[in-house]
Amino acid sequence: MKKALITGITGQDGSYLAELLLSKGYKVYGLVRRLSTPNLENIKHIYDQVQLIPGDLLDQGSLTDAIKESEADEIYNLAAQSFVKASWSQPVLTGEFTGLGVTRMLEAIRTVNPKARFYQASSSEMFGKVVETPQKETTRFHPRSPYGVAKVYGHYITLNYRESYDIFACSGILFNHESPRRGIEFVTRKITDAVARISLGKQDKLELGNLDAKRDWGFAGDYVEAMWRMLQQDKPDDYVIATGENHSVKEFVQEAFKVVGIDSWEKYVNYDNPLHLRPAEVDYLIGDYSKAKDKLGWTPKTSFKQLVEMMVKADLEREKENK
Ligand code: NAP
Ligand code: GDD
Repeated sequence: MKKALITGITGQDGSYLAELLLSKGYKVYGLVRRLSTPNLENIKHIYDQVQLIPGDLLDQGSLTDAIKESEADEIYNLAAQSFVKASWSQPVLTGEFTGLGVTRMLEAIRTVNPKARFYQASSSEMFGKVVETPQKETTRFHPRSPYGVAKVYGHYITLNYRESYDIFACSGILFNHESPRRGIEFVTRKITDAVARISLGKQDKLELGNLDAKRDWGFAGDYVEAMWRMLQQDKPDDYVIATGENHSVKEFVQEAFKVVGIDSWEKYVNYDNPLHLRPAEVDYLIGDYSKAKDKLGWTPKTSFKQLVEMMVKADLEREKENK
């Protein structure tokens, strides 16, 4: 039986990846940090099937112990401070979690089990102020947030451990991916939750920032399959994972209101709210996933329309239950 360790198992991607690996017969371990109130909502349906190990990306010893205890063949580093906006108010913490945390993981692998295969969650946010369109593996980075800068560091330290120590270390440069398990502060979930609440008469207005930013949005459930495929190859490498299509935040809003039969979305939405604007914006992301298609045989399965509908419907169900 293969063994995998997932950091960030309680997050959106960690929970989908854990499901996928369990379905493939893996023994799945998840690193969880101590919180005063445990955050296990995303994994409650598989809680009995995974083994949780306490640890924190800030604590080297706990990472070393987790790798020893799990004896994992594959290690997926998904944990991070992942909210871009928060990275301006907590730039140092973001650097510690999202940047140096990667080195701590790689050091633990190097010292305990250098044969383990490693996946690093790199991000399209590294492209930032894009220098070419669509963005691919060779596109130069120009990060626009402390989060993006930390991810560039995590990306290159992964490459460096591959080249220095021959560790099987891959980076997936994933474009935005969403699901009903997306954190509520990210724009897609914020919109779909508000649309559900507005249609049920529980909320009047949705407050947003910049409606013109464009993102290449896919479904998280499709993207974790690509992470797994990267670690099954003969050689470690880096791959862009995207849909090859982008939409503005405004289009997402329109589509979400359509799902509940509201065409006049403008009545319910305030935008350019300074609270939700960023000191530097990433205006336009669109990925070229042709390398992943050729080498991994991976393609996205869920369309933009299906994604929005899935998320609005899930929030409607949730909001109906939480009377
Ligand atoms: P997420 O939902 O925010 O999950 C983040 C996870 O990291 C949570 O399980 C969180 O645990 C954990 N974590 C945070 N700080 C930690 C620490 N110091 N020690 C241990 N665990 C810690 O993120 P996601 O959307 O699943 O994304 C997964 C990864 O992919 C992240 O690295 C993200 O930056 C990257 N990424 C995401 C996207 C996207 O569109 N979703 C795109 C590209 C890259 P708690 O439950 O305790 O908070
Ligand atoms: N969160 C948020 N809230 N974003 C808003 C809002 C709002 O009220 N109004 C407009 N936006 C715009 C943001 O300015 C940004 O241009 C876009 O919506 C998407 O914002 P987020 O959903 O917060 O995601 P992100 O693109 O900044 O970052 C996500 O994707 C990255 C990959 O490119 C995160 O998942 C990162 O962890 C990930 O690396």
